[in-house]
This record gives sequence, structure tokens and C-alpha cells, in this order.
Amino acid sequence: MDISIRLEEENDYQNVEYLTREAFWNIYKPGCVEHLLVHKIRKVPAFVKKLSFVACHDKKIVGNIIYSKGKIVNDEHNKYEVLCMGPIGVLPSYQRQGIGSSLMHYSIDKARQLGYKAVILFGDQNYYGRFGFLNAIEYRIKTSAGENFEAFMALELYDGALHGISGRFYEDEVFKIDENELEIFEKGFPYKEKRVTSTQL
Ligand SMILES: CC(C)(COP(=O)(O)OP(=O)(O)OC[C@H]1O[C@@H](n2cnc3c(N)ncnc32)[C@H](O)[C@@H]1OP(=O)(O)O)[C@@H](O)C(=O)NCCC(=O)NCCS
Repeated sequence: MDISIRLEEENDYQNVEYLTREAFWNIYKPGCVEHLLVHKIRKVPAFVKKLSFVACHDKKIVGNIIYSKGKIVNDEHNKYEVLCMGPIGVLPSYQRQGIGSSLMHYSIDKARQLGYKAVILFGDQNYYGRFGFLNAIEYRIKTSAGENFEAFMALELYDGALHGISGRFYEDEVFKIDENELEIFEKGFPYKEKRVTSTQL
């Protein structure tokens, strides 16, 4: 499929939120929160506008990826800036055709060119492993709660970028979503039925 990737523009915002809702609906919970997340991330200083990309087929936006700045804080309270990837979404009818992978490769290259050290994300090991992500514990990085699990992954953007950087990872506060806020935001979208599905396990 002929896909082009370009920076997201303000004119795209509504479209991308709609797309994100379509991609995530009923996948991780009944309904979803990611369209609100995308909406909010763009308004905070942690947002990395230069790494917010859309994938287009003809002129239609069919996928997007967004990054924000987070930090790793070590035991001595030193802070190291890293990128936090997500959400990434592809319209359901366009999934499994390489668009998500293109967005990942493209944005990782750009992040490297911009001089960032590393990308942290929460996601499926099988999927993100193919882009070089490792369980964050390989770099002695834990979550803000001091935990580690398979889905918590890190990617160095150049050799040794995370050398000597270990500690807890803190994503931006914007990721704390209020259910009431979600309910109000959701009213701006066409009705969709919330369901419990097997992917939510
Ligand atoms: C995840 C997502 C962005 C991938 O985009 P995509 O264009 O479908 O992915 P690609 O075509 O590049 O890659 C497809 C491969 O990824 C795998 N894959 C896709 N989504 C996956 C997921 N959530 N978990 C694990 N593997 C996944 C497919 O099995 C497929 O593997 P294969 O090539 O071995 O058959 C897209 O499926 C999506 O929007 N999903 C819903 C939202 C979501 O879960 N986002 C990620 C949150 S971490």
C-alpha cells in the first residue's frame, strides 16, 4: 500500500483523535482513553511536536504516532530526559499492512537525528521487540512504582546511550486521566458501544 508519513498539523488534530478512538476502542478497556490522551498530550510542554507523525494513504490519515518527554531519576535524584512513545494507532481496516511499523521506524530515526537518548514505552514485547526494544530491566530501569514487567520496554537511540543511566521512569503527569474528564470528552464523538472483549485481558 502506498503510504506517506508527514508531521501532524493542527488541522489534523480532530481527525487523529477520531482515528485513535477507532484504533483503541474496546481493545484495552470498554471504550478507550487514548483519544483523550492524544488531545491532552499536545497541550503540555512535554509534547514533542517534531515527533508527532501521521501516516497517509492518498490524502486520508490512517495512522499516527505521538511522543512526549519523560525522565529517568536515579537514586542520587539525577534526572535524565528520555522519550515516551505513545499512543500509536492505525485505523482498524488498515492494520497489519506495515503502517504501524513504518511509523515506528520513521519516528525512531527522527528521534535519533534530534539527539534524544532513548525511548520508553509500555506495549507488546513481540511487537516492539522487532524495533529493538528490550525489557527496561536490561538497562536497570524500573517504573515510577519501582516495578518491572515484560510490557515495560526501552530502546537506546545510539550505542551506550543508557550507559550509567538507571533508576525509575516517570512519564508526564498528562498520562493520569480523570474518568469524568473522559466522559465529557467522549460526548464530542459519535456514539459507539462499549463492550468487554478478550483483548482486555
Ligand atoms: C499496534 C498497531 C499500531 C500496529 O500497527 P499495524 O499497522 O497493524 O502493524 P504492522 O502492520 O506494522 O505490523 C503488524 C504485525 O504486528 C502485530 N501486531 C499488531 N498489533 C499488535 C499488538 N497490539 N500486539 C502484538 N502484536 C501486534 C501483528 O500480529 C503483525 O504481526 P505479523 O507481521 O507477524 O503478522 C495497530 O495494530 C493498532 O492501532 N492497534 C490498536 C491500538 C494499539 O494497540 N496500539 C498500540 C498500543 S501499545
